[in-house]
Amino acid sequence: MNPALNHIPPGIFCAQDYERLAADFIPHPALLYIAGGSARETTLRANLDAFENPCIRPRLLRDVSAGHTRLSLFGRALLHPVLLAPVAFQTLAHPLGETETARAAAAMDTVMTCSTLSSRTLEDVARAAGTEKWFQLYFQPARAVTLDLIHRAEAAGYTALVVTLDASIRSPGLASLRAGFQMPDDAQAANLVGYPAAKPVQRETLTAEQSAIFQGGMAHAPHWDDLAWVLANTRLPVLVKGVLRADDALALARMGVTALVVSNHGGRTLDGAPASLAVLPEIRAAVGEDYPLLLDSGIRSGADIFRALALGADAVMIGRLQVYALSVAGALGVAHMLKLLREELELCMAQAGCATLAEIREISIRWREAAKAVP
Ligand SMILES: Cc1cc2nc3c(=O)[nH]c(=O)nc-3n(C[C@H](O)[C@H](O)[C@H](O)COP(=O)(O)O)c2cc1C
Repeated sequence: MNPALNHIPPGIFCAQDYERLAADFIPHPALLYIAGGSARETTLRANLDAFENPCIRPRLLRDVSAGHTRLSLFGRALLHPVLLAPVAFQTLAHPLGETETARAAAAMDTVMTCSTLSSRTLEDVARAAGTEKWFQLYFQPARAVTLDLIHRAEAAGYTALVVTLDASIRSPGLASLRAGFQMPDDAQAANLVGYPAAKPVQRETLTAEQSAIFQGGMAHAPHWDDLAWVLANTRLPVLVKGVLRADDALALARMGVTALVVSNHGGRTLDGAPASLAVLPEIRAAVGEDYPLLLDSGIRSGADIFRALALGADAVMIGRLQVYALSVAGALGVAHMLKLLREELELCMAQAGCATLAEIREISIRWREAAKAVP
Protein backbone atom coordinates (compact mmCIF):
# COMPACT_ATOMS: atom_id res chain seq x y z
CA MET A 1 0.00 0.00 0.00
CA ASN A 2 1.22 3.49 -0.82
CA PRO A 3 1.48 6.32 1.70
CA ALA A 4 -0.69 9.34 0.87
CA LEU A 5 0.79 11.71 -1.73
CA ASN A 6 1.52 15.38 -1.13
CA HIS A 7 0.19 16.28 -4.56
CA ILE A 8 -2.83 15.48 -6.69
CA PRO A 9 -1.94 12.49 -8.85
CA PRO A 10 -2.58 12.50 -12.58
CA GLY A 11 -5.68 10.68 -13.78
CA ILE A 12 -8.24 12.39 -11.54
CA PHE A 13 -10.85 13.97 -13.78
CA CYS A 14 -13.90 13.75 -11.55
CA ALA A 15 -14.58 13.30 -7.82
CA GLN A 16 -15.41 9.62 -8.23
CA ASP A 17 -11.95 8.91 -9.64
CA TYR A 18 -10.77 8.92 -6.02
CA GLU A 19 -12.77 5.74 -5.47
CA ARG A 20 -10.72 3.86 -8.06
CA LEU A 21 -7.38 5.25 -6.86
CA ALA A 22 -8.09 4.48 -3.20
CA ALA A 23 -7.46 0.79 -3.88
CA ASP A 24 -3.74 1.64 -4.14
CA PHE A 25 -3.72 3.49 -0.81
CA ILE A 26 -5.98 1.58 1.60
CA PRO A 27 -5.10 -2.01 2.60
CA HIS A 28 -7.48 -4.51 1.04
CA PRO A 29 -9.49 -5.71 4.07
CA ALA A 30 -9.88 -2.12 5.33
CA LEU A 31 -11.04 -1.03 1.88
CA LEU A 32 -13.69 -3.76 1.97
CA TYR A 33 -14.81 -2.47 5.38
CA ILE A 34 -15.12 1.10 4.08
CA ALA A 35 -16.65 0.32 0.69
CA GLY A 36 -18.97 -2.44 1.82
CA GLY A 37 -22.58 -2.44 2.88
CA SER A 38 -24.37 -4.70 5.30
CA ALA A 39 -25.54 -8.25 4.56
CA ARG A 40 -26.34 -8.78 0.85
CA GLU A 41 -25.67 -5.11 0.07
CA THR A 42 -29.12 -4.61 -1.48
CA THR A 43 -29.39 -1.11 -0.04
CA LEU A 44 -25.83 -0.21 -0.98
CA ARG A 45 -26.67 -1.02 -4.62
CA ALA A 46 -30.08 0.68 -4.42
CA ASN A 47 -28.40 3.93 -3.34
CA LEU A 48 -26.22 4.01 -6.43
CA ASP A 49 -28.98 2.83 -8.78
CA ALA A 50 -31.36 5.53 -7.54
CA PHE A 51 -29.13 8.25 -8.95
CA GLU A 52 -29.38 6.79 -12.47
CA ASN A 53 -32.86 8.36 -12.51
CA PRO A 54 -34.47 10.76 -12.96
CA CYS A 55 -33.05 12.46 -16.00
CA ILE A 56 -32.27 16.15 -15.89
CA ARG A 57 -34.12 18.05 -18.62
CA PRO A 58 -32.26 21.26 -19.49
CA ARG A 59 -33.93 24.62 -20.00
CA LEU A 60 -32.54 26.68 -22.86
CA LEU A 61 -31.54 30.32 -23.18
CA ARG A 62 -31.46 31.01 -19.44
CA ASP A 63 -29.00 33.59 -18.13
CA VAL A 64 -26.77 31.87 -15.56
CA SER A 65 -23.94 34.41 -15.70
CA ALA A 66 -24.67 35.50 -12.11
CA GLY A 67 -25.00 31.91 -10.95
CA HIS A 68 -23.87 30.70 -7.52
CA THR A 69 -24.37 27.82 -5.09
CA ARG A 70 -24.88 29.79 -1.87
CA LEU A 71 -27.53 28.78 0.64
CA SER A 72 -28.73 29.40 4.14
CA LEU A 73 -29.12 26.28 6.24
CA PHE A 74 -30.90 26.85 9.57
CA GLY A 75 -29.32 30.28 9.80
CA ARG A 76 -25.87 29.27 8.58
CA ALA A 77 -24.63 30.94 5.43
CA LEU A 78 -22.87 28.29 3.33
CA LEU A 79 -21.05 28.81 0.02
CA HIS A 80 -22.23 25.48 -1.35
CA PRO A 81 -24.45 22.57 -0.32
CA VAL A 82 -21.75 19.87 -0.09
CA LEU A 83 -21.00 18.81 3.51
CA LEU A 84 -18.89 16.02 4.96
CA ALA A 85 -20.77 13.14 6.59
CA PRO A 86 -19.49 11.61 9.82
CA VAL A 87 -17.15 8.74 8.99
CA ALA A 88 -15.57 6.78 11.83
CA PHE A 89 -11.99 5.56 12.18
CA GLN A 90 -10.36 7.68 9.50
CA THR A 91 -6.85 6.58 10.43
CA LEU A 92 -7.75 3.51 8.39
CA ALA A 93 -7.23 5.77 5.37
CA HIS A 94 -4.55 8.20 6.57
CA PRO A 95 -2.26 8.26 9.64
CA LEU A 96 -3.53 11.73 10.65
CA GLY A 97 -7.15 10.72 10.09
CA GLU A 98 -9.91 13.21 10.84
CA THR A 99 -7.61 16.18 11.47
CA GLU A 100 -6.62 16.07 7.79
CA THR A 101 -10.25 15.93 6.73
CA ALA A 102 -11.04 18.84 9.03
CA ARG A 103 -8.26 20.94 7.48
CA ALA A 104 -9.71 20.25 4.04
CA ALA A 105 -13.20 21.19 5.18
CA ALA A 106 -11.88 24.47 6.58
CA ALA A 107 -10.08 25.26 3.32
CA MET A 108 -13.19 24.53 1.26
CA ASP A 109 -15.74 26.25 3.53
CA THR A 110 -17.39 22.92 4.10
CA VAL A 111 -18.99 21.65 7.27
CA MET A 112 -16.91 18.87 8.85
CA THR A 113 -18.87 16.34 10.90
CA CYS A 114 -16.73 14.57 13.47
CA SER A 115 -17.94 11.08 14.43
CA THR A 116 -18.26 9.88 18.02
CA LEU A 117 -16.09 7.04 16.73
CA SER A 118 -13.36 9.25 15.25
CA SER A 119 -9.84 7.96 15.65
CA ARG A 120 -8.66 11.47 16.64
CA THR A 121 -10.28 13.21 19.60
CA LEU A 122 -13.10 15.63 18.92
CA GLU A 123 -10.94 18.36 20.49
CA ASP A 124 -8.06 17.71 18.03
CA VAL A 125 -10.51 17.66 15.13
CA ALA A 126 -12.12 20.92 16.28
CA ARG A 127 -8.76 22.67 16.40
CA ALA A 128 -8.08 21.69 12.77
CA ALA A 129 -11.59 22.51 11.52
CA GLY A 130 -13.07 25.81 10.38
CA THR A 131 -15.80 27.74 12.14
CA GLU A 132 -18.68 25.53 11.03
CA LYS A 133 -18.15 22.06 12.51
CA TRP A 134 -20.67 19.52 13.69
CA PHE A 135 -20.32 16.65 16.16
CA GLN A 136 -22.07 13.36 15.41
CA LEU A 137 -23.40 11.78 18.57
CA TYR A 138 -23.94 8.09 19.17
CA PHE A 139 -25.85 7.42 22.39
CA GLN A 140 -23.64 5.66 24.91
CA PRO A 141 -24.96 3.01 27.31
CA ALA A 142 -24.47 5.40 30.26
CA ARG A 143 -26.27 8.76 30.05
CA ALA A 144 -23.42 10.37 31.98
CA VAL A 145 -21.03 9.49 29.14
CA THR A 146 -23.44 10.76 26.46
CA LEU A 147 -23.83 14.00 28.41
CA ASP A 148 -20.08 14.36 28.79
CA LEU A 149 -19.65 13.97 25.01
CA ILE A 150 -22.25 16.72 24.46
CA HIS A 151 -20.48 19.02 26.92
CA ARG A 152 -17.09 18.31 25.32
CA ALA A 153 -18.50 19.07 21.85
CA GLU A 154 -19.96 22.36 23.10
CA ALA A 155 -16.72 23.32 24.84
CA ALA A 156 -14.67 22.49 21.73
CA GLY A 157 -16.72 24.88 19.61
CA TYR A 158 -18.91 22.52 17.61
CA THR A 159 -21.87 24.34 16.14
CA ALA A 160 -24.43 21.51 15.86
CA LEU A 161 -25.06 17.96 17.07
CA VAL A 162 -25.92 15.26 14.56
CA VAL A 163 -27.62 12.43 16.43
CA THR A 164 -27.43 9.22 14.42
CA LEU A 165 -30.34 6.91 15.15
CA ASP A 166 -30.09 4.18 12.54
CA ALA A 167 -27.07 2.30 13.81
CA SER A 168 -27.81 1.11 17.34
CA ILE A 169 -26.99 -2.33 16.03
CA ARG A 170 -25.30 -3.07 12.73
CA SER A 171 -25.52 -6.09 10.50
CA PRO A 172 -22.03 -7.09 9.49
CA GLY A 173 -20.34 -6.24 6.22
CA LEU A 174 -19.81 -9.77 5.04
CA ALA A 175 -17.05 -9.08 2.52
CA SER A 176 -14.76 -7.49 5.12
CA LEU A 177 -15.54 -10.23 7.65
CA ARG A 178 -14.65 -12.91 5.13
CA ALA A 179 -11.41 -11.08 4.31
CA GLY A 180 -10.52 -11.18 8.01
CA PHE A 181 -10.75 -7.43 8.62
CA GLN A 182 -10.11 -6.35 12.21
CA MET A 183 -9.97 -2.78 13.43
CA PRO A 184 -6.25 -1.97 13.98
CA ASP A 185 -5.16 -0.70 17.40
CA ASP A 186 -4.36 2.80 16.08
CA ALA A 187 -7.89 3.24 14.70
CA GLN A 188 -9.81 3.04 17.95
CA ALA A 189 -12.50 5.44 19.15
CA ALA A 190 -10.32 8.18 20.67
CA ASN A 191 -13.30 10.06 22.14
CA LEU A 192 -14.30 7.14 24.34
CA VAL A 193 -10.90 6.52 25.91
CA GLY A 194 -11.02 7.12 29.64
CA TYR A 195 -14.73 6.45 30.11
CA PRO A 196 -15.68 3.37 32.11
CA ALA A 197 -15.87 0.51 29.60
CA ALA A 198 -19.47 -0.20 28.60
CA LYS A 199 -20.37 -3.69 29.65
CA PRO A 200 -22.08 -5.47 26.78
CA VAL A 201 -24.78 -7.94 27.83
CA GLN A 202 -23.04 -11.31 28.00
CA ARG A 203 -24.70 -14.02 25.96
CA GLU A 204 -24.28 -16.51 28.81
CA THR A 205 -26.37 -14.30 31.11
CA LEU A 206 -29.35 -14.48 28.76
CA THR A 207 -32.05 -17.05 29.42
CA ALA A 208 -33.19 -19.49 26.75
CA GLU A 209 -36.20 -17.22 26.01
CA GLN A 210 -34.01 -14.14 25.58
CA SER A 211 -32.37 -12.99 22.39
CA ALA A 212 -28.81 -11.81 21.82
CA ILE A 213 -30.27 -9.13 19.57
CA PHE A 214 -33.29 -7.78 21.49
CA GLN A 215 -32.09 -8.21 25.07
CA GLY A 216 -28.40 -8.09 24.08
CA GLY A 217 -27.34 -5.69 21.32
CA MET A 218 -30.44 -3.48 21.59
CA ALA A 219 -30.52 -3.33 25.40
CA HIS A 220 -29.08 0.20 25.47
CA ALA A 221 -30.52 1.50 22.18
CA PRO A 222 -32.09 4.97 22.50
CA HIS A 223 -35.84 5.66 22.49
CA TRP A 224 -37.90 8.81 21.93
CA ASP A 225 -37.44 9.97 25.52
CA ASP A 226 -33.67 9.73 25.15
CA LEU A 227 -33.78 12.06 22.18
CA ALA A 228 -36.01 14.46 24.11
CA TRP A 229 -33.40 14.35 26.88
CA VAL A 230 -30.64 15.35 24.42
CA LEU A 231 -32.76 18.24 23.15
CA ALA A 232 -33.21 19.41 26.72
CA ASN A 233 -29.51 19.09 27.53
CA THR A 234 -27.76 20.99 24.78
CA ARG A 235 -27.75 24.55 23.57
CA LEU A 236 -26.69 23.39 20.09
CA PRO A 237 -29.09 22.80 17.20
CA VAL A 238 -29.79 19.07 16.91
CA LEU A 239 -29.99 17.23 13.60
CA VAL A 240 -31.18 13.63 13.40
CA LYS A 241 -29.48 11.34 10.87
CA GLY A 242 -30.92 8.13 9.54
CA VAL A 243 -34.48 9.16 8.70
CA LEU A 244 -36.26 7.15 5.99
CA ARG A 245 -39.95 7.61 6.81
CA ALA A 246 -42.30 10.55 6.50
CA ASP A 247 -44.04 9.79 9.84
CA ASP A 248 -40.73 9.71 11.73
CA ALA A 249 -39.64 12.90 9.97
CA LEU A 250 -42.79 14.71 10.98
CA ALA A 251 -42.57 13.53 14.58
CA LEU A 252 -38.91 14.60 14.81
CA ALA A 253 -39.63 18.01 13.33
CA ARG A 254 -42.52 18.50 15.74
CA MET A 255 -40.43 17.61 18.79
CA GLY A 256 -37.95 20.38 18.00
CA VAL A 257 -35.22 18.72 15.96
CA THR A 258 -33.63 21.45 13.84
CA ALA A 259 -32.94 19.46 10.67
CA LEU A 260 -32.96 15.90 9.37
CA VAL A 261 -30.52 13.84 7.36
CA VAL A 262 -32.36 11.45 5.07
CA SER A 263 -29.91 8.57 5.10
CA ASN A 264 -29.54 4.81 5.24
CA HIS A 265 -25.95 5.08 6.49
CA GLY A 266 -24.61 4.40 3.00
CA GLY A 267 -26.25 0.96 3.02
CA ARG A 268 -24.38 -0.10 6.15
CA THR A 269 -27.26 -0.75 8.56
CA LEU A 270 -30.66 -2.27 7.62
CA ASP A 271 -30.13 -4.18 4.40
CA GLY A 272 -33.36 -3.89 2.44
CA ALA A 273 -33.96 -0.26 3.41
CA PRO A 274 -34.85 1.95 0.44
CA ALA A 275 -32.41 4.27 -1.27
CA SER A 276 -32.37 7.62 0.52
CA LEU A 277 -33.13 9.38 -2.76
CA ALA A 278 -36.24 7.25 -3.31
CA VAL A 279 -37.88 8.37 -0.05
CA LEU A 280 -36.74 11.98 -0.14
CA PRO A 281 -39.80 13.35 -2.02
CA GLU A 282 -42.30 11.92 0.47
CA ILE A 283 -40.27 13.21 3.41
CA ARG A 284 -40.06 16.68 1.85
CA ALA A 285 -43.82 16.59 1.31
CA ALA A 286 -44.38 15.65 4.96
CA VAL A 287 -42.16 18.30 6.57
CA GLY A 288 -43.01 21.15 4.18
CA GLU A 289 -40.88 23.27 1.87
CA ASP A 290 -39.04 25.29 4.53
CA TYR A 291 -37.85 22.62 6.95
CA PRO A 292 -34.09 21.89 6.55
CA LEU A 293 -33.44 18.49 4.98
CA LEU A 294 -30.10 16.95 4.10
CA LEU A 295 -29.49 13.74 2.23
CA ASP A 296 -26.67 11.25 2.00
CA SER A 297 -26.02 7.73 0.71
CA GLY A 298 -24.78 7.11 -2.80
CA ILE A 299 -23.63 10.56 -3.90
CA ARG A 300 -20.68 10.27 -6.24
CA SER A 301 -20.99 13.30 -8.56
CA GLY A 302 -22.27 16.82 -8.97
CA ALA A 303 -25.16 15.55 -11.07
CA ASP A 304 -26.12 13.31 -8.13
CA ILE A 305 -26.14 16.40 -5.90
CA PHE A 306 -28.32 18.22 -8.44
CA ARG A 307 -30.81 15.33 -8.39
CA ALA A 308 -30.91 15.29 -4.59
CA LEU A 309 -31.58 19.03 -4.47
CA ALA A 310 -34.21 18.74 -7.18
CA LEU A 311 -36.00 16.02 -5.22
CA GLY A 312 -36.16 18.06 -2.04
CA ALA A 313 -32.80 18.19 -0.22
CA ASP A 314 -31.32 21.53 0.87
CA ALA A 315 -27.83 20.07 1.04
CA VAL A 316 -26.01 16.73 0.84
CA MET A 317 -23.40 14.89 2.86
CA ILE A 318 -20.51 12.94 1.39
CA GLY A 319 -19.38 9.71 3.05
CA ARG A 320 -17.05 7.31 1.30
CA LEU A 321 -15.61 9.74 -1.26
CA GLN A 322 -14.05 11.77 1.58
CA VAL A 323 -12.18 8.72 2.89
CA TYR A 324 -11.03 7.69 -0.55
CA ALA A 325 -9.66 11.17 -1.27
CA LEU A 326 -8.08 11.29 2.20
CA SER A 327 -6.20 8.06 1.53
CA VAL A 328 -4.82 9.31 -1.80
CA ALA A 329 -3.62 12.81 -0.88
CA GLY A 330 -4.62 13.67 2.70
CA ALA A 331 -6.18 17.09 3.26
CA LEU A 332 -5.21 18.12 -0.25
CA GLY A 333 -7.11 15.17 -1.70
CA VAL A 334 -10.26 15.85 0.34
CA ALA A 335 -10.18 19.53 -0.61
CA HIS A 336 -9.67 18.63 -4.26
CA MET A 337 -12.51 16.10 -4.18
CA LEU A 338 -14.83 18.75 -2.70
CA LYS A 339 -13.73 21.28 -5.32
CA LEU A 340 -14.45 18.76 -8.08
CA LEU A 341 -17.90 18.00 -6.66
CA ARG A 342 -18.71 21.67 -6.42
CA GLU A 343 -17.57 22.30 -9.99
CA GLU A 344 -19.50 19.27 -11.23
CA LEU A 345 -22.62 20.66 -9.54
CA GLU A 346 -22.03 24.10 -11.06
CA LEU A 347 -21.52 22.59 -14.51
CA CYS A 348 -24.71 20.59 -14.17
CA MET A 349 -26.62 23.68 -13.01
CA ALA A 350 -25.29 25.76 -15.90
CA GLN A 351 -26.14 23.10 -18.46
CA ALA A 352 -29.60 22.63 -16.95
CA GLY A 353 -30.26 26.37 -16.99
CA CYS A 354 -30.31 26.85 -13.20
CA ALA A 355 -28.46 29.86 -11.80
CA THR A 356 -29.22 29.14 -8.14
CA LEU A 357 -30.13 26.28 -5.86
CA ALA A 358 -33.60 27.79 -5.61
CA GLU A 359 -33.98 27.35 -9.35
CA ILE A 360 -33.12 23.67 -8.98
CA ARG A 361 -35.97 23.51 -6.47
CA GLU A 362 -38.37 25.14 -8.92
CA ILE A 363 -38.17 22.18 -11.25
CA SER A 364 -38.48 19.80 -8.35
CA ILE A 365 -42.23 19.79 -7.94
CA ARG A 366 -42.78 18.08 -11.27
CA TRP A 367 -40.08 15.53 -10.47
CA ARG A 368 -41.61 14.79 -7.12
CA GLU A 369 -44.99 14.18 -8.69
CA ALA A 370 -43.32 11.72 -11.07
CA ALA A 371 -41.40 10.09 -8.22
CA LYS A 372 -44.62 9.18 -6.39
CA ALA A 373 -44.93 6.37 -8.89
CA VAL A 374 -41.69 4.86 -7.55
CA PRO A 375 -42.45 2.17 -4.95
C1 LIG B 1 -16.40 3.65 6.88
C2 LIG B 1 -17.65 4.37 7.27
C3 LIG B 1 -17.81 4.78 8.57
C4 LIG B 1 -18.96 5.47 8.95
N1 LIG B 1 -19.08 5.92 10.24
C5 LIG B 1 -20.18 6.63 10.60
C6 LIG B 1 -20.30 7.15 11.91
O1 LIG B 1 -19.42 7.00 12.74
N2 LIG B 1 -21.44 7.82 12.22
C7 LIG B 1 -22.45 8.03 11.32
O2 LIG B 1 -23.46 8.64 11.64
N3 LIG B 1 -22.34 7.55 10.05
C8 LIG B 1 -21.25 6.88 9.67
N4 LIG B 1 -21.12 6.42 8.39
C9 LIG B 1 -22.19 6.73 7.42
C10 LIG B 1 -21.92 8.06 6.72
O3 LIG B 1 -22.08 9.14 7.62
C11 LIG B 1 -22.89 8.30 5.56
O4 LIG B 1 -24.22 8.16 6.03
C12 LIG B 1 -22.67 7.36 4.38
O5 LIG B 1 -21.31 7.05 4.20
C13 LIG B 1 -23.21 8.03 3.13
O6 LIG B 1 -23.11 7.20 2.03
P1 LIG B 1 -21.93 7.31 0.94
O7 LIG B 1 -20.73 6.67 1.56
O8 LIG B 1 -22.47 6.52 -0.21
O9 LIG B 1 -21.71 8.77 0.63
C14 LIG B 1 -19.98 5.74 7.99
C15 LIG B 1 -19.78 5.35 6.66
C16 LIG B 1 -18.63 4.68 6.30
C17 LIG B 1 -18.45 4.30 4.86
